[in-house]
Parts: sequence; C-alpha cells; structure tokens
Amino acid sequence: MEVMIQDTAETASRTAAALAAEEIRDHPDTVLGLATGSTPLGLYREWIRLHSDEGLDFGRVTSFNLDEYVGLPADHPCSYRYFMQEQLFNHINIRPDRVHIPNGTAGDLAAECAAYEQAIRDAGGIDVQVLGIGSDGHIGFNEPGGSLASRTRREILTAQTRRDNARFFDNPEDVPLYSLTMGIGTILESRRILLLAFGEHKADILAKAVEGPVTASVPASVLQMHPHVTVFVDEPGAASLARVDHYKWVMRHSLE
Ligand code: PGA
Repeated sequence: MEVMIQDTAETASRTAAALAAEEIRDHPDTVLGLATGSTPLGLYREWIRLHSDEGLDFGRVTSFNLDEYVGLPADHPCSYRYFMQEQLFNHINIRPDRVHIPNGTAGDLAAECAAYEQAIRDAGGIDVQVLGIGSDGHIGFNEPGGSLASRTRREILTAQTRRDNARFFDNPEDVPLYSLTMGIGTILESRRILLLAFGEHKADILAKAVEGPVTASVPASVLQMHPHVTVFVDEPGAASLARVDHYKWVMRHSLE
C-alpha cells in the first residue's frame, strides 16, 4: 500500500481526484467504482471543477457504485442514487446509461446482484475504485465478520453503521436494515484502489486496516492483499499510524 498523507482532506481529495483524472485523460473509457458518504465529497467537487474549468471529459466513462440501501427508491433523498445525482452526475457529462447503482427496490434482489456482477464483467472490470472506510472498518457495506471473498449481495447493516448513517435521515429508525453491496471479492478485482480516510474519528480504524493483521473483523484490512492501493489521508486521519515517518519518506522520494 502506498500511503499519501496530506495536511488537509481538501488537498488529499484534490490529489486523489487528479490521479483518477489522469487515468480518464489517458483512457477515456475508464470504468470507475464510486462511493457515497461524506468522504468522497471533496473528490467529486474537484472532478466537477476539472470538468467545468479544464474540460475533463466523462463522456465515455462508465461507473459502478459500491452499494445502495434496500427499499429506498431512486428519488428518495437518502438513497445513494439520489446522492450521486446531486453530488456528481448532474454536474458532469457522464452518460446516464453508463451509470450503474444497485437497485435496492428490485423485486428479486439476488437476481439484481447477479446482474450487477455481470454488468461489471461486461464493462471489462473496474479500473479505478474509490473507497471510504466505515468506522467499523467496512468497505462498501461489507460489515465485519463477513466473507473476504464475498460477491455483490444483500448485506445486513451493523448497529454502528446504522447509527453512523442516522445523521442523513429525519429519524434514526428510518435507516434501512439492509443494503445491496459489491462484495469484497468484487472490490479486490478492481485494477487500482484509492482509499480515502479523513478526520481523527477515522484514525484508529485506518491504522488497523493499513497496519494491523488481515482479518474479516476489519474488512478494509484485506486491501493489504491488493497489489495497487493508494491511501489518501489527512494529518488527523493519520494520527494512529505507526509508520508515518516512513510513508512521508516514501512520498518525498517518489516525488523527486
Ligand atoms: P463516511 O462513510 O464517508 O460518511 O465517513 C464512509 C463509509 O461508511 O464507507
């Protein structure tokens, strides 16, 4: 893993956005894996800026989101479809038919998940996957204790995740119990992964994911098994990492 520590979340987000933008310029038909939550907002703002100010072209880009709540329709303000439209898709030129988000209202959820896996394969796999990390170590909605080889499926949310996400809902009880999520096995097949973690509330879980043992108890730790992960973290988020000096040393020398 390459760990890029930057002073602020804003700088780290811009750096991650620039890296993905370079990929899109080099390969206009890049397949992106996208995340929701507070973490990727700065990255999406920067892509929007690059699109409007510098003509970054999403016209041939395909996207697959990590997850969606079960039971929330696309026009529900708390659905991840709604979030993505508001925070990114409405502001860039990505084609609606190239945008994929699991449908949490599908009648047959197992068939929906199988079709999602097939759509990723048909697109040639994910080139660049953006990830946040949950305070319980989840990636996507792959909660602790699940299989590290899982595929896209229905997953029950932990009590902690439901508490964490209650801030987006009028009533904490409205947070759905289930999600559809890409599996860990699905995520690990991405060619490149950008893991973003900002703020002191992510410091301990990030250190476990990056420097702790690989364990299903911290699903993000499995990223240590992936050959091409870059971690973008701000100073507060890096506070519990043991090898900060080494990461900064590597960064200094790779910039030379
Ligand atoms: P957050 O969520 O970006 O809102 O902190 C991250 C996650 O749950 O993956």
